Amino acid sequence: MKTFDYNIILIGFMGTGKSTIAKKLSYMHRLEVVEMDEEIVRRQGMSIPDIFAEHGEEYFRNLETELLRDLQSRGGKVISCGGGAPLRAENVSLMKQNGRVVLLTATPESVYERVKNGKNRPILNGNMNVEYIASLMEKRREKYEAAADVVVATDGKVIWQICEELTQALKKG
Ligand code: S3P
Repeated sequence: MKTFDYNIILIGFMGTGKSTIAKKLSYMHRLEVVEMDEEIVRRQGMSIPDIFAEHGEEYFRNLETELLRDLQSRGGKVISCGGGAPLRAENVSLMKQNGRVVLLTATPESVYERVKNGKNRPILNGNMNVEYIASLMEKRREKYEAAADVVVATDGKVIWQICEELTQALKKG
């Protein structure tokens, strides 16, 4: 039997390590991994910046809700969410239907170091600096924290430590 029969849902700001942790957890616990951004790109046949540019943010947010709905039909997956997914109350209810929500956190400085060379995040276009990241993170903090069943701070920890901490916290219930 698998250790987890529900979905482990990773949320958090861009650059907090959701994708990396999802891959490692999927290996540790033999869970299928779903990367929301990748799945949306696959379904749309377009990159995230192109979806934002052609259809706008609201359209992208609707795609996220649609995908989350599809993903909750069964458990046993680790789902790495786009950073904006938990901002909609409807999305959080969908996540909780069949999953437990884990919030990964990091300081604005370490997020900046991880995302500064990326070209794939339209939300940070023209605003790739620590001050902007810190203010957006602060704006989102309340919703992130309200959605979370478990919170894991990632700064100064290696991948296996984060996964171990997260696993123990989930097992504790
Ligand atoms: C977004 C985060 C991105 C992606 C999109 C919007 C956000 O995902 O979904 O660019 O609003 O925080 P990552 O958190 O995987 O970078």
